[in-house]
Amino acid sequence: MMTQGLQTVSYIASSILFILSLGGLSNQESAKRGNLFGIVGMGIAILAAALGESTQGHGILIAVMIIASLIGIVVAQKVEMTSMPQLVAILHSFVGLAAVLVGFGSYLDEQTQSLTGAAHSIHLVEVYLGIFIGALTFTGSIVAWGKLQGTIKSNPLMYPGRHFFNMSLIAVSAFFLLRFLSADDAAQGMQYLLIMTGLSSLLGILLVMAIGGADMPVVVSMLNSYSGWAAAAAGFMLSNDLLIVTGALVGSSGAILSYIMCKAMNRSFFSVIFGGMGNAAGKKSEAVAITGEVKSITSDETCDLLKDARKIVIVPGYGMATAKAQHAIFELVKKLQEGGREVTFAIHPVAGRLPGHMNVLLAEANISYDIVHEMDEVNPELPETDVVLVVGANDIVNPSALEDAGSPIYGMPVIEVWKAKHVIVSKRSMAAGYAGIENPLFFKDNTRMLYGDAKKTVDALVQGI
Ligand code: TAP
Repeated sequence: MMTQGLQTVSYIASSILFILSLGGLSNQESAKRGNLFGIVGMGIAILAAALGESTQGHGILIAVMIIASLIGIVVAQKVEMTSMPQLVAILHSFVGLAAVLVGFGSYLDEQTQSLTGAAHSIHLVEVYLGIFIGALTFTGSIVAWGKLQGTIKSNPLMYPGRHFFNMSLIAVSAFFLLRFLSADDAAQGMQYLLIMTGLSSLLGILLVMAIGGADMPVVVSMLNSYSGWAAAAAGFMLSNDLLIVTGALVGSSGAILSYIMCKAMNRSFFSVIFGGMGNAAGKKSEAVAITGEVKSITSDETCDLLKDARKIVIVPGYGMATAKAQHAIFELVKKLQEGGREVTFAIHPVAGRLPGHMNVLLAEANISYDIVHEMDEVNPELPETDVVLVVGANDIVNPSALEDAGSPIYGMPVIEVWKAKHVIVSKRSMAAGYAGIENPLFFKDNTRMLYGDAKKTVDALVQGI
């Protein structure tokens, strides 16, 4: 058994390790170390909590920990990189459910019932808020999982008076908080808690149902933030300082990540959160008409261009992920480098559908971090670049973002590939990307379209070179 003092020291060590972990995750080179800090911190936290003086029922605790660990290991090993958002979403639902269960447990606890005065009221508010956030996170994450998995239709659920109805659910929950605080006994309090849990669960479903499938990554990051606040609320209920610190770290980092994603997409945070966007199909900007003609190129001609080039930049996008072309790209880069060419990657902050999506895929294909650069580093170098090879990217290289004030993506920073001597775009058709808008890049004089699945196309280039 651990003394109270040793447990506190362990909790402080865990908190520090979690902060170091988040710091490590900010950069690809240190990400592995960051993960390791997180794992060690969590290991210490679990041991300190399990061995604490006040902990009882070690038999049950060990049994559930073994079962849960086995499920975790199997799931994590089986999950494909493309299904990672779904896994994250469903894991958030567990945090939400845990906060709800802790809330009910804490309310029914004899100690709570014996509290009096201000301490009692404060604790009741903690319980109520913890359950409210937890239930919302639970159902919202399940809907997010369903939309990402394709079990729930990804269209946003729209109906008149939607915002008013959601606000009413919050208002009625606030009303029941007052009733809950003045409940005569635990049975009556329980009724109010159950009503609020129903309302909050419904709110979680409605909020996420209103959001288009393509905006789900931002929503998942926001639910990540909610799950942190739910955990922090559970920490207050259990008087567990580590849970409060960890919950606050997750809550604030999730909120910052959601904000960064929205900023990089030039979308307002509220338009994503309150839904109905991100599903626009075939929108055309009327402010600037697209001129020029689309010219295609064969893989042999592309090989000639690449062979003649000195400096090459590759811009991967969502299409590289769906085609799983990263390993073929690794081979291509190797061949080009062996031929003495300088090859770098340009990564847009929201390329693909997840934060860091491209970085993870390139790392999986063993592409060296040294040649993977951020958009801001690469943009100034593009005028001196001979060939830019765009692999399955679209919105992140759309010049409308800078040139067409009427475009839905106007103001979003993009990789200015058209400034290079030649631009080759590998995609299957002229179809739009996530934003559903046309891309004038494809019509520019120095752009050639290399049609076909990105994996097959890059394989052909590897053969040709
Ligand atoms: P997109 O604009 O979505 O374009 C991807 C392109 O890949 C499509 O136009 C598609 O054209 C092509 N493609 C699909 N499958 C392919 C295949 N097998 N082989 C070759 N090409 C294929 O992607 P992007 O440029 O990476 O931009 C990302 C977008 O997602 C941005 O609008 C961003 O705001 C949004 N978004 C990002 C995130 C994060 S956090 N990354 C989160 C939410 C939304 P074809 O059909 O013609 O092949």
